[in-house]
Amino acid sequence: MPGAKGAHHALNVDGVSKAFFHRRRETRVLDNVSLTVEPQEFVSIVGPSGCGKSTLFHIIGGLELPDAGTVNMGGKNVTGQRGEISYMPQQPALFPWRTIEDNVLLAGELKGEPKAEARAAARHWLDKVGLGGFERAYPHMLSGGMQQRAAFLRALLAPQELMLLDEPFSALDALTREQMQRWLLELWEENRRSVLFITHNIEEALLLSSRIYVFSGRPGSVLHIVDVPFPRPRRGELTDSLEFLQLRRELSEWMREEQARTTR
Ligand SMILES: Nc1ncnc2c1ncn2[C@@H]1O[C@H](COP(=O)(O)OP(=O)(O)O)[C@@H](O)[C@H]1O
Ligand SMILES: [Mg+2]
Repeated sequence: MPGAKGAHHALNVDGVSKAFFHRRRETRVLDNVSLTVEPQEFVSIVGPSGCGKSTLFHIIGGLELPDAGTVNMGGKNVTGQRGEISYMPQQPALFPWRTIEDNVLLAGELKGEPKAEARAAARHWLDKVGLGGFERAYPHMLSGGMQQRAAFLRALLAPQELMLLDEPFSALDALTREQMQRWLLELWEENRRSVLFITHNIEEALLLSSRIYVFSGRPGSVLHIVDVPFPRPRRGELTDSLEFLQLRRELSEWMREEQARTTR
């Protein structure tokens, strides 16, 4: 379904395959992967560890070239081009020598925004995500969850239309993770961006996404596409509903089968 920005997909990955060579041995990592993200849509990829999810993100971000297939954004072929997306990597990559505010400001600097305006926006958002008072702190002074929120803000305030989030909560303890999921859900529902989100947490994917691509084990390919039917705004209670639990069970079953198949 075309979104508000016209008939183009925010992202269209078309038939992407990739192999790596190491000491003449070929590892096939991605096999004919196609997926789309519409403008202002939240889409997730779930798949077993090592199935090529981060590699796909690197390809979308132009850091790696695919062996076959294309990456298109807003109707343009951007395969191999950098700078088209905002990217939040698996580890919160904040610059340790910059304050939290200056880390978040980086997005505005890249956009070429006037400093005062960018600073005002950063302050506003830092407050909103519970980091008010930490503007002048350095990353090491913050908890993992707070660092992730700052890294997320930096990605959110970046000029690119599409955000890629690579397992942003994987390093957090269970409770913080749950808080962060709800925080992200609320923030995104208020400020919709086009998001492609990687996780291997099924509950997280179901809570946040409009659509989920379930990947096979390596070489990663699209096994199932799930349209997540829950209306928005979604609230935490959703995860206790019967429909949610049924869908979760179904996805878990697929993942288990896939794990069993690939470890045989
Ligand atoms: N630059 C690279 N060179 C060689 N092998 C790589 C490279 N990047 C990733 N791989 C391999 O590709 C496979 C998929 O890795 P990755 O994309 O990180 O999976 P995931 O993010 O799904 O856990 C792994 O076997 C990994 O060792
Ligand atoms: Mg990864």
